[in-house]
Amino acid sequence: MVLLDKLIAQGKNPRGFVGRVMIRIMNRAHSAITTWAFNKIVIRENSPVLDIGCGGGENIHRLTKMTARSDVYGVDYSQQAVETSILRNKEEVQSGRVTVCRGEVSALPFESEKFGTVTAVQTHYFWPDLPGDVKEIYRVLGKGGTLLIAAEIYKINYHMNNHTEDQQVKQLFLDAGFRAVEIHQNKSWRCYVGLK
Ligand SMILES: C[S@@+](CC[C@H](N)C(=O)[O-])C[C@H]1O[C@@H](n2cnc3c(N)ncnc32)[C@H](O)[C@@H]1O
Repeated sequence: MVLLDKLIAQGKNPRGFVGRVMIRIMNRAHSAITTWAFNKIVIRENSPVLDIGCGGGENIHRLTKMTARSDVYGVDYSQQAVETSILRNKEEVQSGRVTVCRGEVSALPFESEKFGTVTAVQTHYFWPDLPGDVKEIYRVLGKGGTLLIAAEIYKINYHMNNHTEDQQVKQLFLDAGFRAVEIHQNKSWRCYVGLK
């Protein structure tokens, strides 16, 4: 496997020492896109927030600062990511404000309608079945809840064979049940916001 393939595999499912280093780098590298994307939504107070594909846990930390009264959850199928996210949010995990667990976006380990807001940054291009996965997120969102998916455009085009066009993604959100979809874009980044 060439080096690039190895780095992509680590981005998709961080493991071991290299994975730990990678997700710590991602915490810094994804800061600007996360700031841009999180500004597109209003985090609902008094309603739990979920970050899917939470990686190194920086977005969880940021979400705890954006809301005073909502608990924040993180989920990732990488054990390394879960451990790093817990370390990054140690005090909030100890106080019970933050919960991080291992799980797959296609079968989220949460009851239906639990969350007011769900975020996913730089991860959806790795997901196994985007239409099914968006439906699964719709299931765990409460009525009036918001889903935000954000990613770099070149990564969307590099990793995805389908669902790279705005109209396709909009339709996919509507098919999942979302009543409204917004798409924001600049020259580098794109985000989809679905309102349940
Ligand atoms: C490129 S990292 C981004 C991490 C973080 N969201 C950020 O912005 O820095 C992608 C993360 O998505 C996770 N991931 C990829 N596919 C997933 C899936 N099907 N279910 C859950 N997590 C997944 C990976 O384990 C990895 O931690």
